[in-house]
Amino acid sequence: MAILKAVRGTRDLLPPETELWNKVEAAARSVFARYGFGEIRTPIFETTELFARGVGEETDIVSKEMYTWEDRGRAESDRGQSLTLRPENTAGVVRAYIEHKLGETGSLQKLFYIGPQFRRERPQRGRYRQFWQIGAEVIGPTSSGSESPVRDAEVLEMLATLLDELGITGWRLALNSVGSAADRARYSTALREALAPVKHKMCEDNQRRAETNPLRVLDSKDENDQEIINGLPKIADFLGEDSREHFAQVRAALDACHVRYIIDPRLVRGLDYYTRTTFEFTVPDGSGLGTQNAILGGGRYDGLSEMLGGPKAPGIGFAIGEDRLILTLQAQAAEAHTSKLDAYIAPMGTAQNPAALQLASELRRAGLTVEVGDGSFRLKKSFEAANKVARKIIILGEDEVKSGVFTIKDFAKAEQTKIPHGDLATALKP
Ligand code: HAM
Repeated sequence: MAILKAVRGTRDLLPPETELWNKVEAAARSVFARYGFGEIRTPIFETTELFARGVGEETDIVSKEMYTWEDRGRAESDRGQSLTLRPENTAGVVRAYIEHKLGETGSLQKLFYIGPQFRRERPQRGRYRQFWQIGAEVIGPTSSGSESPVRDAEVLEMLATLLDELGITGWRLALNSVGSAADRARYSTALREALAPVKHKMCEDNQRRAETNPLRVLDSKDENDQEIINGLPKIADFLGEDSREHFAQVRAALDACHVRYIIDPRLVRGLDYYTRTTFEFTVPDGSGLGTQNAILGGGRYDGLSEMLGGPKAPGIGFAIGEDRLILTLQAQAAEAHTSKLDAYIAPMGTAQNPAALQLASELRRAGLTVEVGDGSFRLKKSFEAANKVARKIIILGEDEVKSGVFTIKDFAKAEQTKIPHGDLATALKP
């Protein structure tokens, strides 16, 4: 009988890896608690209409990637409806905010979630059809301070704290403002005008988007269309005074908290609900993610509640791709593990073996990490072995033992120096 396997794009998480998942989730819960967030759990499936209205019909997520089915009624009187496995959690949280009238409390709602999401994307490393997000949303009536730039900066500062506490190194925060709904309407008009004379050269999807939702043209990955896309007007030139001032205040608060960022004027993000601040955190090459290097994304969505039929409730939030966070941690830890020894001692001839071991003992007692070769190795072999495990090689021949001056080669700098015995330990310290 054929062996049954997990469905393409889904995977099992097994021990001991699950221990790391639990650690990451515990760290997130601990940080969220310090910032006053409480947990929300929304259903894994919702009505299709929620995502169509919230995320946007023209987005890749809604137009191509959702797991949607017609859920038949169980009785004559029970009408069927179109349901969808949640591709993201913000729309569900805002639906719950409206449904439970959380706005009527008058206070700011700070909610976090941890759970699986579903998108029918082409699977690759760091991209799955069932993936996990750790996310949070800050939402409330304007009187609760939900629109304040302090909220944006606080969320970003919290993320910097979480990533630092988890030990993620080299992360980069890219920031942009996509303006208010009015700014975006003006920008859309400008895009439509700029696209009109050239859109016939673009792929079919972009030709359609150029009419229906020109902002989504900017998310297009179609290679042939990139030249046209790069020449399109930039959102930054369409921001009204209010949006510009809001963005300036977000940046000033981030500067005050020493959170570093770069401004990326093309960062519009692939969901329709964003207004004003948008952001993404990426990790450097070599962090185990390949091209899927965005470990989290988010932004403001001041009009989403109204789009879903609720009261005015500005908000801002983010979602971390937990799978990607774990891959990064694993890759970066592996890199830390393979961190090299301080020195490799290469005795020249077996007669120098005892002196090599004695020098190793002395350096190890001084706190250095040291490996010793063998006097029978040829020089070339010693160099190859040393280069694999250590940052530096110490050549130990008869002359060196007699004179007490050693030849050391630094592999990274490709530099050779002579160092007296007494200065060796200091010279080898990283
Ligand atoms: P998103 O950018 O679509 O935003 O997803 C957030 C993060 O989820 C991405 O940066 C990535 O790390 C991860 N992710 C997305 N798709 C996949 C996939 N197929 N496999 C693995 N990881 C993936 C949102 O979902 C918004 N709801 C974020 C937000 C919250 N905005 C405001 N509040």
